[in-house]
Amino acid sequence: MNILAIESSCDETAAAIITGDPFASNSNSDTKKPQILSNIVVSQIDIFKAYGGVIPEVAARSHLEAILPVIHQAFRDAGFTKSNANSSSYSDDWSKIDAIAVTHTPGLLGSLLIGTLTARTLAILHGKPLYAIHHLKSHIYANWLNAENTPSFPLLALVISGGHTQIIRMTAHNNFEIIGTTLDDAVGECFDKVAKILGLPYPGGPSIANCAKKGDSQKYHLPIPNIKELDFSFSGLKTAVLRAVQKEVGVPISYPSHQLANLLTDQQKSDFAASFEKTATDILLKKLEKALATYPDTKSIVIAGGVSANQNLRASTVKKFNSPTDPTIFFPELKFSGDNAAMVGAAAFFEIKTKTEPTDPYSLNIFPRSDIQ
Ligand SMILES: Nc1ncnc2c1ncn2[C@@H]1O[C@H](COP(=O)(O)OP(=O)(O)OP(=O)(O)O)[C@@H](O)[C@H]1O
Ligand SMILES: [Mg+2]
Repeated sequence: MNILAIESSCDETAAAIITGDPFASNSNSDTKKPQILSNIVVSQIDIFKAYGGVIPEVAARSHLEAILPVIHQAFRDAGFTKSNANSSSYSDDWSKIDAIAVTHTPGLLGSLLIGTLTARTLAILHGKPLYAIHHLKSHIYANWLNAENTPSFPLLALVISGGHTQIIRMTAHNNFEIIGTTLDDAVGECFDKVAKILGLPYPGGPSIANCAKKGDSQKYHLPIPNIKELDFSFSGLKTAVLRAVQKEVGVPISYPSHQLANLLTDQQKSDFAASFEKTATDILLKKLEKALATYPDTKSIVIAGGVSANQNLRASTVKKFNSPTDPTIFFPELKFSGDNAAMVGAAAFFEIKTKTEPTDPYSLNIFPRSDIQ
């Protein structure tokens, strides 16, 4: 089965073609895992660097420009093209596609509209079943892409992205229970906001990670919030960094935050970046540890979402859960930690495996803030 997957929930326009047999019974068969035939991602990061963040209207327009060329390139890379009679051009060979998958929630409304409307139109035009895929499921299923080993159930997924911070328990494919979530900001959003305070470029996550390399993570003490159960809070950490920077450079709290970075030396920026990165990691891993104590039958830990690219977090996670009785830890390949369509195809593969019905392309709704279920 070949699945065309489309992703446009934020500022990446992406298409991929995934192949495999969701119903393969032979346990040695490669086809029982989703394999990537093509994977195209066009990022708008360069546009938004100039603004320091995503402008939803601009993102939607950029998706509109990019989406058909991106899909066409996914067909070309997969070798799914046929030559046109009487011309030297090639067109997409839709006879090779068995299903279309598209991100329908959560995300920016205008961005989601472009991807979903494109997918709905193509599904109707070419008579293909349409699978509407939840974006966070896709981030989790990035861990099943071409990996030698795949996670075992029951598992705990730590979803850490630009818009979400959640611990999700899965007892089987396509079975999700949110057991912890942020009460305010997401951890990725916190990386982005702290980067702004430190005058580091967008997107903040990689900038902080880079700046932190020369920093002392013990230099500034930042608080770990005392939030009940398995929930998170990150807005206090962002404010704690702001107050610590104001104190360090000796200005009142009324001082304009966008001018603070001018008063910091490069070393101070690195020390703040390292101290923040360590504290954010500690907060995440403390909750993960608590979740594991609550669910001792957990066989795998799956880290998912854009923040999973953070090398410090990866190293600290492996270090913390390194006893033989600890669950096996999985991270997505770096190229699949941020938004991409291959992970959407993988999520669709497992929806099909669990016999989820396709969506009616005439009535697909988008829900920008819907919880995974
Ligand atoms: N190396 C890194 N360290 C820390 N954070 C990172 C790193 N690389 C990327 N990020 C963060 O990951 C986030 C982007 O991740 P992702 O693309 O998954 O989020 P999103 O799609 O915008 O949100 P969501 O998936 O919740 O809808 C940004 O906040 C970015 O700063
Ligand atoms: Mg995402």
